[in-house]
Amino acid sequence: MGLLVFVSVLSGSSFALDNGLMRTPPMGWLAWERFRCDIDCAHDPKNCISENLFMDMADRLSEDGWRELGYVYVNIDDCWSSKQRDDQGRLQADPKRFPGGIHKLARYMHDRGLKLGIYGDMGTHTCGGYPGTTLDKIQLDAQTFADWEVDMFKFDGCYSNASVQEEGYPLMSKALNATGRPIGYSCSWPAYQGGLPPKVNYTQLGQICNLWRNYGDIQDSWSSVLNIADWFFENQDVLGPAAGPGRWNDPDMLIIGDFGLSVDQSRSQMALWAILAAPLFMSNDLRTISGEARSILQNKMVIGINQDPMGVQGRRIVKEKSGIEVFWRPLSGDASALVFFSRRTDMPYRYQTSLSKLNYTTGSYKAFDVFTNSAMVLKDSADFVVSVNPTGVVMWYISAPARLNVRQYFSSDRMQGSAYRLDKDNAIPRVFF
Ligand code: GLA
Repeated sequence: MGLLVFVSVLSGSSFALDNGLMRTPPMGWLAWERFRCDIDCAHDPKNCISENLFMDMADRLSEDGWRELGYVYVNIDDCWSSKQRDDQGRLQADPKRFPGGIHKLARYMHDRGLKLGIYGDMGTHTCGGYPGTTLDKIQLDAQTFADWEVDMFKFDGCYSNASVQEEGYPLMSKALNATGRPIGYSCSWPAYQGGLPPKVNYTQLGQICNLWRNYGDIQDSWSSVLNIADWFFENQDVLGPAAGPGRWNDPDMLIIGDFGLSVDQSRSQMALWAILAAPLFMSNDLRTISGEARSILQNKMVIGINQDPMGVQGRRIVKEKSGIEVFWRPLSGDASALVFFSRRTDMPYRYQTSLSKLNYTTGSYKAFDVFTNSAMVLKDSADFVVSVNPTGVVMWYISAPARLNVRQYFSSDRMQGSAYRLDKDNAIPRVFF
């Protein structure tokens, strides 16, 4: 990192995000959707934005099996700071709610193999009315975050305008890089510019940010999830090419485990976010989450698909009048993922199709249903039927035809037992057959 910064300064190549971070979509926990700007610690000590909340979540991430699956970021959002900067002009945490300060909180995360994310705003104020990071404060704030050993920074865009953003977002990228500390950079810039070209330049975003919010805020409801998913797939031709290792479209947090989604809808959000190669930031209460929600969020196959090292964003390939849609994502090792999704609101729909109809080339394929843990062999031309629940999904991992040996499949127990393993080196679950 240090050398890269040094070289890029010398060569004057200013617009390359050379931080080497987030080669697969980042995963973790983010406070906003569930805990918002609750600062009333006197009356709501368990849920208010305070160091205790982030330490509680860190404990859960490290003790309940999340960290090993890749959920390592613990991200502070708005309303963490004092309303005033300190006497040297630096941002400071609210002293009552964060008595230990941010640096100590970062240490708490690092001691547990986790990372800390923080939030700021490219404007006069954050969306919640806390001090913003105007252009003149960018270097100071980047250095402050680095001094605190923060690992990720979300830069929001309230109370600013297009020309300030055009200057500020690249400047912050340079400032973060110049600290020499690897800090993942999440930009809300495109969301403030309508998310689409010509106003949004996705080539540039890929060079300066690791991820970016393209669209509006998620809320705790199925209609919100559906609205976001629809926008991303309607604009997939523009958004898809923007994504890749180190640069991701961000459809916003996972609300699985909150109040608004049924089990089927929770699976749908998880499946569609995996197809989108989306960052997986849960915003829920890990202290009280249900077993059902947890098993969806901890599904190793879905996580493995989301974290595929090739990093190609998937797309919608079929939109039927019946309300069934099919999504596809190419994966490394000539594998792929398919999601059958139902917009219907009546009963499980029996959808009939074949791999040939879904553009697969000739051969036999092995399909593994990630939510039922069952496997089957599919011949390209043969029709099959999937039963898709209302507002639910069926999601398959399809392995490459070349790697399929049907005799071996029937004569061995490879499909029983564990079909995946965790890659210990980088804690990214990979899908194996
Ligand atoms: C904006 C962002 C949200 C959240 C809030 C905080 O609305 O899009 O994700 O950060 O601000 O005030």
